[in-house]
Amino acid sequence: MALWDMLKSAIGLKETPASIVIAIDGPAASGKGTIARRLAEVLGFDYLDTGVLYRAVGWTVLQHGRSPSIVFEATRVAETLKLASIDETVLRSDEVADAASKVAAIPEVRTALLDHQRHFAKNPPRGRGAVIDGRDIGTVVIPDAHVKIFVTARDEVRAHRRYLDLRPDNPDLREGQVLSELRARDRRDMERATAPLKPAGDAILLETSELDIDSAVAAALAIVERTLRQKKSAPGLQAMASGVGRPNEIQKQA
Ligand code: DC
Repeated sequence: MALWDMLKSAIGLKETPASIVIAIDGPAASGKGTIARRLAEVLGFDYLDTGVLYRAVGWTVLQHGRSPSIVFEATRVAETLKLASIDETVLRSDEVADAASKVAAIPEVRTALLDHQRHFAKNPPRGRGAVIDGRDIGTVVIPDAHVKIFVTARDEVRAHRRYLDLRPDNPDLREGQVLSELRARDRRDMERATAPLKPAGDAILLETSELDIDSAVAAALAIVERTLRQKKSAPGLQAMASGVGRPNEIQKQA
């Protein structure tokens, strides 16, 4: 039996009428992307990395030789974005991350990217559920997500992870520089007026500083199970409840 079917059975959910949405937010290099991707894999859900959307807008604006802070330019790019035509490997650099964070502070850009994200949440390609990661998924994009997790880690730990990621292509990179750029980006993401980075009131915090990736994914999976189990009796999920319960099976599989 697939893990999601076991999880549904363990919590006592019947067939779900609409797809389950798991929102994963958090700052750069907190581990949220890897956790979200792995959660989607083990549950058979579809995964959307919303940072790619902002990175694609930032990268395209830079390609046009313009500043990512120019509202008109960034908005036009966001409104006409064709993700399929962009090779995602060009989006990984810190220069593009910085541009992404700048275009992300423009309300019109965020509005232009909302429909795509909400449509994905409601209609994930395989129809079971969606795991969506970003900065404002639980607060703005899908405020009624079934599960919300806010992933954090200490600044130094995040900078070290990012340094290890970027170093192979940038032999001259210094860890201190990565740390100060990461802090600057966090500040911009947290202090912008529209959809700032912050945990939703009903998000569960997951601190990953001391966790390896397998432990972090297992912890996230336990949060998903616990939250769905608690919500089973809430009106939205009540219709799905069948009352079957095999609570320990999931933890063993994870
Ligand atoms: O997750 P990431 O590092 O790929 O995101 C790049 C930038 O995009 C990040 O600094 C802020 C912005 N972003 C955002 O504002 N809202 C999202 N949902 C995702 C990313």
